[in-house]
Amino acid sequence: MKLTETEKQYFKGCAAELLKSDDVQLMDTFIQHANVSCLEHSISVAYYSYLLCRKLNLSVDYRSIIRGALLHDFFLYDWHLSSDRKGLHGFTHPKTALANAEEHFPLNNMEKDIIVKHMWPLTFTNPPKYKESFIVSLSDKFCSLIEILRIYPSIISH
Ligand SMILES: [Fe+2]
Ligand SMILES: [Fe+2]
Repeated sequence: MKLTETEKQYFKGCAAELLKSDDVQLMDTFIQHANVSCLEHSISVAYYSYLLCRKLNLSVDYRSIIRGALLHDFFLYDWHLSSDRKGLHGFTHPKTALANAEEHFPLNNMEKDIIVKHMWPLTFTNPPKYKESFIVSLSDKFCSLIEILRIYPSIISH
């Protein structure tokens, strides 16, 4: 499954505004899984969410999928280190990521939902409101798995 040149350009165009931000680039200084940074992980999640929707020709908001996925783990700390943060990272980081994202970028309701619901079904009382949120949540689990197993393809690195 590959993207056409036009599809790739669309992805890059939607991602560009966020990727040029120094704050988004800060995610590259934090490890997410194995030796994959938070930024690389977020690009992977955006890429696979987009690829899936394009190849299945789904009727979705492509721009919101890409932007929401890029910001879904915008929590900006090393979750492997202990700290005085309240609550378990798995449960709390979607809200932290959303608060950071709202501080830096104007977001639509779908982008907010994608970010704050991406750990579903862990946060089982609050299911995704849009199919786009469900797709990113699925892609996040897929990417986390291939990163932990270290079987991710090199095309994902930025
Ligand atoms: Fe996450
Ligand atoms: Fe993630």
